[in-house]
Amino acid sequence: MLTVLFLFACFVKAYSTATRIEWGHFTSAEQTAILQAHNAFRSKLALGTYKSAAGVKFAKATNMYQLKWDFNAADEAFDALVLCPMTPTTYKGQNFYKGINVSRTGCGTKACAAWTNEFHAFGPSGYVMTVNTKQATQMAWAKSHSVGCAWANCQNGADTVMLVICRYTPEGNTAGVKAYAQGAKTCAMCPPVAAPCVKATGLCGEPLPVPDYKLFPAADQTYFLSKFNSVRSQMALGELTWDNCSWHWATNDKPNETIYWPASKATYQLKWDAGLALSAGKKLASAKYFPDPTGNYALNASVGNFGYNTNVDEWIPRRDSEGTLQQMINAAWFTWYGCFGVLKMAYHAMADPKNGTQVYEDILYTYLAGSARKIGCAYRNDTGYWGILCYTWPKGLTVGSAFYPAGTPVCSSCPSTAPCNKATGLCVLK
Ligand SMILES: *[C@@H]1O[C@H](CO)[C@@H](O)[C@H](O)[C@H]1NC(C)=O
Ligand SMILES: *[C@@H]1O[C@H](CO)[C@@H](O)[C@H](O)[C@H]1NC(C)=O
Ligand SMILES: *[C@@H]1O[C@H](CO)[C@@H](O)[C@H](O)[C@H]1NC(C)=O
Ligand SMILES: *[C@@H]1O[C@H](CO)[C@@H](O)[C@H](O)[C@H]1NC(C)=O
Ligand SMILES: *[C@@H]1O[C@H](CO)[C@@H](O)[C@H](O)[C@H]1NC(C)=O
Ligand SMILES: *[C@@H]1O[C@H](CO)[C@@H](O)[C@H](O)[C@H]1NC(C)=O
Repeated sequence: MLTVLFLFACFVKAYSTATRIEWGHFTSAEQTAILQAHNAFRSKLALGTYKSAAGVKFAKATNMYQLKWDFNAADEAFDALVLCPMTPTTYKGQNFYKGINVSRTGCGTKACAAWTNEFHAFGPSGYVMTVNTKQATQMAWAKSHSVGCAWANCQNGADTVMLVICRYTPEGNTAGVKAYAQGAKTCAMCPPVAAPCVKATGLCGEPLPVPDYKLFPAADQTYFLSKFNSVRSQMALGELTWDNCSWHWATNDKPNETIYWPASKATYQLKWDAGLALSAGKKLASAKYFPDPTGNYALNASVGNFGYNTNVDEWIPRRDSEGTLQQMINAAWFTWYGCFGVLKMAYHAMADPKNGTQVYEDILYTYLAGSARKIGCAYRNDTGYWGILCYTWPKGLTVGSAFYPAGTPVCSSCPSTAPCNKATGLCVLK
């Protein structure tokens, strides 16, 4: 028994000469203050406003996550303080603070200040962990998402010693690796859905509460764009007929005249825009099913934003042929483009084709607005129902104004920033 006690005493002795006075978890107000200290530092780095004492500007971070509190990590930090360690076991995924005669009040933020001071004092040599900046690099470790900390007050000879340990997940300070990715554009590497950019802080933030929308992969963006732009091209060249659907709906009376939409002096080729796609996705995420007067499920009109820069498909029950993204795009296009695959403007009697003047607005045709330059779409794929929403920019359709400046020569009003492509008749942004 004596031997066991003796061995145990030696074991403790080997790790610490200090004795614990008290230790604990941080209160929720302290947790907030510690997170703020971290995120304010990270935000300055992300926005490129952080400078060292010598005035050296740090590079902007493109992938800096906003940290959140991690209670499990706080428990681990608490356990790591049990023996009042006077030196840390590691700086990989852990920061360590030792303050002689420092009071309990505000010890968490004092620790944070001491750690950021390493960057302030030593400058950006610490992009990669160095002996001087090891705790600042862990604080600035872009890919760490969360942190949890605890404190202990210990007696070490004449000194009382305040200890703070923070543990980070995923752990940083991997040897030879930079704390964060550097580039010209803050947030450029934030995952748009999983951790979208928070513009004010420049940090990759919390995902949206209801991320139940999806963005189109590049191949489907191209597929979608080609549909928009081929109709815009036909229209701009004056090759798009108006009356393919003008036969009487009830009698299937075929048209006996062909009217062409006038050529356009300035219709832009649409470009895909990730920001518009994301806005459309966020709108879809908040959409509710709403049975329209015909009994179909439609997007709530406040979501569809009628008359503004939207194209939206009805929320219709899924058919077997609508499993893949291209099939969904085809089905949406069918709704937007026309009756039985042809333009249905005449059926809606929404515009006078002879002079290209819009008679009333219909969100289904915003993709035809000549002035629109960018489009971005997102989709929602729910059990049994699905929907696609697109936003165009700038807003194109206004009651009483033309879809585009009608007339010839085709493309003659394209600006120098978007010269004419003669083959398509579209103004192509440089
Ligand atoms: C801490 O306080 C004790 C008691 O007042 C004092 O003896 C000691 O020198 C102080 N240590 C430091 C580093 O200030
Ligand atoms: C086709 O021509 C007939 C006879 O001229 C006319 O009565 C009818 O309204 C026309 N139909 C359409 C769709 O223009
Ligand atoms: C559409 O959404 C708005 C805002 O959420 C709501 O006030 C309105 O009642 C909804 N309309 C229908 C028909 O569900
Ligand atoms: C959409 O959901 C349906 C049914 O759950 C599934 O069969 C289909 O593969 C999904 N499509 C896409 C593009 O996610
Ligand atoms: C309308 O009909 C004409 C003649 O059949 C055809 O050439 C043209 O491609 C059709 N337009 C559309 C948009 O389908
Ligand atoms: C264009 O057509 C609309 C609808 O038919 C008409 O009200 C308007 O006066 C026409 N504008 C011109 C310039 O002819």
